[in-house]
Amino acid sequence: MLKNRHNSIDACSAEVKRETGVILLCWPGYNLELFNYPEHYHGDIENVYIPHGVIMDRIESIARDILEDLGQHTLMVLCVLKGGYKFCADLVDSIKAQSRSTNCPLTVRVEFIRLKSYLNDRSTEDLHITGPDDLSVLRGKAIVGTGKTMMSLLKHVVTFQPKTIKVAGLLVKQGPNGAAMLPDYVGFVIPNHFVVGYALDYNEYFRDLDHICVISEKGKLKYKV
Ligand code: HPA
Ligand code: MG
Repeated sequence: MLKNRHNSIDACSAEVKRETGVILLCWPGYNLELFNYPEHYHGDIENVYIPHGVIMDRIESIARDILEDLGQHTLMVLCVLKGGYKFCADLVDSIKAQSRSTNCPLTVRVEFIRLKSYLNDRSTEDLHITGPDDLSVLRGKAIVGTGKTMMSLLKHVVTFQPKTIKVAGLLVKQGPNGAAMLPDYVGFVIPNHFVVGYALDYNEYFRDLDHICVISEKGKLKYKV
């Protein structure tokens, strides 16, 4: 399923320096019968695309990379809600756990920001950013942002003059034009499927699914607004 290689997406302003989990277009996902998932979603998902355990494993590697790069700083984590909350919580846990085994455990602080741009499975023009108006706590800190919609958020964040900004994204989708900008830390590069679970939603449903799954046509219809 996963092909470990250097990332091949064209990046205008960033390069992925480390190994990345690339999921190939032909990956059909796992058969649902192999997994536990809530009964209320039976029929609403096609397959388990990335099992929870695989996500956790990948997060452990990202946490190790972040510690290697930023372990000497106070880390301010900016979690992008709502879709990034699981990734953020698990990443911070893993960073803390790994940092405890060093001589100098890292100080980690977390702030939250909310972005919303999707209706059904389509991106809408208007991106709403809500969160603390005053992000001046970021000044002079090393920031790791976790979430999906990077560009406009980064423009907002740089105005608070942090010392270093790094972006961690669990998923990067391979679109027709490639990704406009790549996160510094990438969990998985996936084909352009609409996926749900592990806090990613379709009209607020499926956040309670542990695995990342491909939604079915029936699921899209059932929860359409
Ligand atoms: N799933 C849920 N939310 C999203 C996705 C997705 O595949 N892409 C962008 N927002
Ligand atoms: Mg959403």
